[in-house]
Amino acid sequence: MRVTRKSAGRAAATALVLMLGLTPAACGAGSQGGDATGGGGGSRVEVFTWWAAGSEKAGLDALVGVFQEQHPDIEFVNGAVAGGAGSAAKDLLQTRLQAQDPPDTFQAHAGAELQDYIDAAQIEDVSALYEEFGLTDAFPPDLVERLTSQDGAIYSIPSNIHRANVLWANPAVLEEAGLDPAAEYADLDAFVADLEKLDKAGVTPLSVATTWTQVHLLETVLLADLGPEAYSGLWDGSTDWASPEVTTALEHFETLMSFTNDDRDGLDWPEATQQVIDGTAAFNVMGDWAVAAFEEQDKQLGTDFVAVPSPGTDGTFDFLADSFTMPVGAENPEGTEAWLETVGSLEGQVAFNKAKGSIPARTDADPAEFSEYQQGAIDSFGQDTIVSSLAHGAAAPVATLNAVSDATSKFTTGASDLPTFQDELAAATAS
Ligand code: GAL
Repeated sequence: MRVTRKSAGRAAATALVLMLGLTPAACGAGSQGGDATGGGGGSRVEVFTWWAAGSEKAGLDALVGVFQEQHPDIEFVNGAVAGGAGSAAKDLLQTRLQAQDPPDTFQAHAGAELQDYIDAAQIEDVSALYEEFGLTDAFPPDLVERLTSQDGAIYSIPSNIHRANVLWANPAVLEEAGLDPAAEYADLDAFVADLEKLDKAGVTPLSVATTWTQVHLLETVLLADLGPEAYSGLWDGSTDWASPEVTTALEHFETLMSFTNDDRDGLDWPEATQQVIDGTAAFNVMGDWAVAAFEEQDKQLGTDFVAVPSPGTDGTFDFLADSFTMPVGAENPEGTEAWLETVGSLEGQVAFNKAKGSIPARTDADPAEFSEYQQGAIDSFGQDTIVSSLAHGAAAPVATLNAVSDATSKFTTGASDLPTFQDELAAATAS
């Protein structure tokens, strides 16, 4: 998945936003407790996401631009809650859902996370909208399966597909330390050998941020050491968390964490990726929303940054997909339907994904519309082994992810040792 050409997508999406005069104010303010009927008597839609700032907000703005073209009579109300991977949004959403105060639509990951909302009867069957909007054949069947309940009802409309297992690097920093800037790492030991050299050279070898990004790193390490099949078995009980192979992975994780920045727990993903952009860190493992951050700052793929599969995971696509829902009791179902129509539309998917760094969930988008990085991701998605991301809701329910996150935070802050960490991970996934 080597990438060498700059994306034109970011510029195009930004131009669209500018053309439409979109500003945070034009996109609506935060809507907690707002009057859901709107001031002008028209319909509105409160869209709840965690795409609140930076390149993620630019992605949302691009989608909003298409929404406003397709549905000029419906007011978009931005219910975004800051915090990467929904680290703050998901708890707040749960509070609102339990208080019967749902937004008109919210972002949810395809897979186990969506199943949580289905099981709790918090979201509606939207199969009829698949018929109405002609979406039935628009998405890959495997993806639709992850959005479907056991009784065959479909519960959300996907907006995009992201890859989690990407290693981002600053080639100038690598060259300065005498390393090959185009290196791909067949395994974690080879990667650690280069981290040691970078450490001696006086840069941060590997940047990371707060707990969820550490869990993200952990999942790529488990994937590298266990391989796709055993990694997937961690989530259905067929792989033993107490095995020596998992111990080896946790030892690798501990080693990688020892090469990371001290200020990590106070940062979110944009700041960790920024360290690579600025050249104060050499590497960052992050999902491919990061490409939008590089491109937003006019960084050239292949020249200013490189993107390769995270160490030891070539041939595997660690998958996640965002999707949008119709919450039970949404106050403006007309607005929700309009938003879902835009999310599922070809125009919406092209504009959004160009800006977001992800690839369209629809299979009929023209790859030529996307950057070389994204074209590589489209190819990989078509030919690699697909596994589900833990940190981004595809592999395990929210309760499991929360327990894994707590165990990880204890371990990386020195409050537990490796055997305890392994025990706690086993317990987290046993329920
Ligand atoms: C993921 C989400 C992505 C991106 C990322 C970082 O969970 O699916 O679209 O927003 O978090 O915040």
